[in-house]
Amino acid sequence: MEAFTFSYPTKNYFGQGAAHKALAEELPKYGKHVLLAYGGGSVKRNGIYDELLAILKEQGKEVTEFAGIMSNPTYRKVQEGARLVREHKIDLILAVGGGSVSDCCKAVSAQAALEEDLYDYEYAKHKVPTAGVPMGVIVTASGTGSEQNAGAVITYEEKNWKGPLWGTAASFAVLDPYYTKTVPMRQVISGAFDTLSHCLETYLGTPREPNLSDVMNESVMRSVIENIRKVKADPEDMQARSELMWASAMAENGVLKLGKVTDFQCHMIEHQLGAYTDCNHGCGLAVIQPELYRHLAPEAPAQFARLAREVFGVAEQESELATALAGVEKFADFIEEIGLPTTLKAMGIEDKAMLHAVAVTSIRTPGCAKKLTDEEIEEILLHVLG
Ligand code: NZQ
Ligand code: ZN
Repeated sequence: MEAFTFSYPTKNYFGQGAAHKALAEELPKYGKHVLLAYGGGSVKRNGIYDELLAILKEQGKEVTEFAGIMSNPTYRKVQEGARLVREHKIDLILAVGGGSVSDCCKAVSAQAALEEDLYDYEYAKHKVPTAGVPMGVIVTASGTGSEQNAGAVITYEEKNWKGPLWGTAASFAVLDPYYTKTVPMRQVISGAFDTLSHCLETYLGTPREPNLSDVMNESVMRSVIENIRKVKADPEDMQARSELMWASAMAENGVLKLGKVTDFQCHMIEHQLGAYTDCNHGCGLAVIQPELYRHLAPEAPAQFARLAREVFGVAEQESELATALAGVEKFADFIEEIGLPTTLKAMGIEDKAMLHAVAVTSIRTPGCAKKLTDEEIEEILLHVLG
């Protein structure tokens, strides 16, 4: 195992009604100026907005709204939020939504506390922000696990770039599975698939010999697969929604990553695809990941074979590589079974020149089984064009 130091600052409130308990305990710790941040309006339609606003008012908070945070949040939106935080001397940012709202607010928090431009600070000066305006996240769509860490994924449109920005980790997170009941099933599935993807990208990092983090990870992956099937069969299955919500947090709270250098190469390619097409994150991963793994399995056959046996129930084949590849095919079958897209064309993506640009600009990750060339990435993308 790699050496590690581990702690994380997010206090989790899980379960039905958790927002009431969390806000009763947490709000008194902060001043009265609260930024209430949300997305395109689902929180208004499903009543979560009214419920939270009433609690905020009851506690005497002055609320400034930061609305309209889009899926795949932009750098411009981050700057808009940071201006609001400064202007209204915000004491607490309350992010209410899925990964996009949470990510945007994490970056807003860091930008508001920083004199310089956040992107330049991180990518030109190679510094990590150390200060931020306190924030809490109320999760309404699970999958990214964004509420569990300081990493934000932001689209910088002018630069054709989508990638990680370090922001502020939430001091507290509310995970109420009942809040996810109105999420469209397609998003429930693509979000849960994102969780599975995070687990895989963690598991397939280095070192390549299995350790406790991997053994725990296998359980989380099996659970995610089982519960995606359950929630798809019965959207009212609250046990399945609960399991998926906590699995989403477990995949990104750091526990499964202990002692590992993670892979996340698939994510880096998908993020660039998102930069050019604004596509749904989980769907983009579903299209790319099996083909990428067909390509990578020969580089780490023992690890892929273990994944095949322990998670996808593949019996031992004539060789380790055969077992590994059979596992990748089971993974691909699962994606088809749960109705996620399997080609780029199915997502409305057809532009080959753009795929070249995606390949050239994708970040390469140290934990990947192979340092991929531009040509290899382009070939993988062309393979899944459909
Ligand atoms: O905007 P509203 O109207 O709220 O609608 C949203 C949005 O359309 C809707 N939604 C959310 N809660 C709902 C609901 N609809 C009905 N009822 C509810 N309770 O769901 C749609 C998708 O929301 P979004 O937040 O965009 O999805 P997700 O949680 O999948 O987040 C995607 C973003 O997270 C990034 C992705 O790249 C993408 O930008 N990621 C962040 C990560 C992180 N910080 O650790 C890791 C991931 O790998 C990922 O890259
Ligand atoms: Zn993801």
